[in-house]
Amino acid sequence: MTQRKGIILAGGTGTRLYPLTTAVSKQLLPVYDKPMIFYPLSVLMLAGIREIAVITNPEYMQQFGQLLGDGSQWGLAISYIAQASPDGLAQAYLLAEDFLAGAPSAMILGDNIFYGNDLRSLLKRADEEPEGGTIFGYHVADPERYGVIGLDAGGRVTSLEEKPKIPPSNYAITGLYFLDKTAPALARQVEKSPRGEYEITSLLNMYLESARLRVVRLGRGHAWLDTGTHGSLLDAGNFVRTLENRQGLQIGSPEDVAFQLGWIDRGALRDRAKSYGKSAYGQSLLRRVNETF
Ligand code: DAU
Repeated sequence: MTQRKGIILAGGTGTRLYPLTTAVSKQLLPVYDKPMIFYPLSVLMLAGIREIAVITNPEYMQQFGQLLGDGSQWGLAISYIAQASPDGLAQAYLLAEDFLAGAPSAMILGDNIFYGNDLRSLLKRADEEPEGGTIFGYHVADPERYGVIGLDAGGRVTSLEEKPKIPPSNYAITGLYFLDKTAPALARQVEKSPRGEYEITSLLNMYLESARLRVVRLGRGHAWLDTGTHGSLLDAGNFVRTLENRQGLQIGSPEDVAFQLGWIDRGALRDRAKSYGKSAYGQSLLRRVNETF
C-alpha cells in the first residue's frame, strides 16, 4: 500500500472563541503548556504518519510555519496549504489532492484532542486498511453539537447526520478520518449543505452507502476533548495539566512521540529540549532524555 499521508485541518474562523481568536488562529491557542495543534499532530505521528500537510487560512500560514517548520526536527515532512475560504471540512480533500497524489489519508481536525491507552494500536489498525474508510465514534452528553452516528438494534451503523436536532444516538463522529485514495474524487461530488458548507458527513455517507465505512467506538478509557467554547478549552487544559503533573509525562508532545518511535535519537531530543529554554515543557523533555525506560 502507498504510505498514508496526514492532513491537519487548522483553518476556520474561530468565531465561537472571540475575542481569543480575533487576532490569533484557534489552533495556535494554548492547551495548558503547548499550542493546540501539537495534540492532533502527535496523534497523526502515533499512527506512524510522517508526511503531513497543514491546511490553514492564508493569514496564519506564516505563524504555523514559524511553529512547526518543515517538521524535520521531529523526523517529519510538513507542508502547508492555504484555504482561502472556510467552506467546509470536505473541501480539504480537494485542496490536498496534489499533496496526496493518490495516497490514502488520515485527516484530523486541528482542534481535536484525543487521549487513551490503546490509541496507538487503534490508529495502527485503521492505517493498515487500504480500502474504504475508518472513523471513530465517542459517547457524548450533547450529541446535537456534532456529526452523529445512527445505529440499529444490533449496533450496526445506519446513518450519519450533521448536528441533528433530534440525535439518533449519543455517539458523536470525532474529527479523525482515515480515508482511502478515492476521497478527493468523492469530495468533488459533495454538494453544499443548507448552511453553505461542504460537509464531511456527506463525504462519509458516500463511504457508508457503498458499505466501505468502518466505525470504531472509542470506549470509556478514552478522552476526546472539545475546545469549542471558552469553558471546554479551559477544561481541556486542566485535563492535560492534571495528568502531566501526576505522571511527569507529556501529552501531545511531538518530541516525545518522535523519540518513542525512534524517529529522533536521544541527542536530538536533548537539543529540542534545550531549544525550549527554561520552560516547564523543555524541562520535562530534558528529564525524558535522562530516563532509561
Ligand atoms: O469536532 C468534531 C466535529 O467536527 C464533527 O463531529 C462534525 O461532524 C464536523 O462537521 C465538525 O463539526 P464542527 O462544528 O466542530 O466544525 P467546525 O466548523 O467547528 O470546524 C472544525 C475545525 O475545522 C475547526 O477547528 C475549524 C476547522 N475548519 C472548519 C471549516 C468549516 C477549517 O479548517 N476549514 C473549514 O472550512
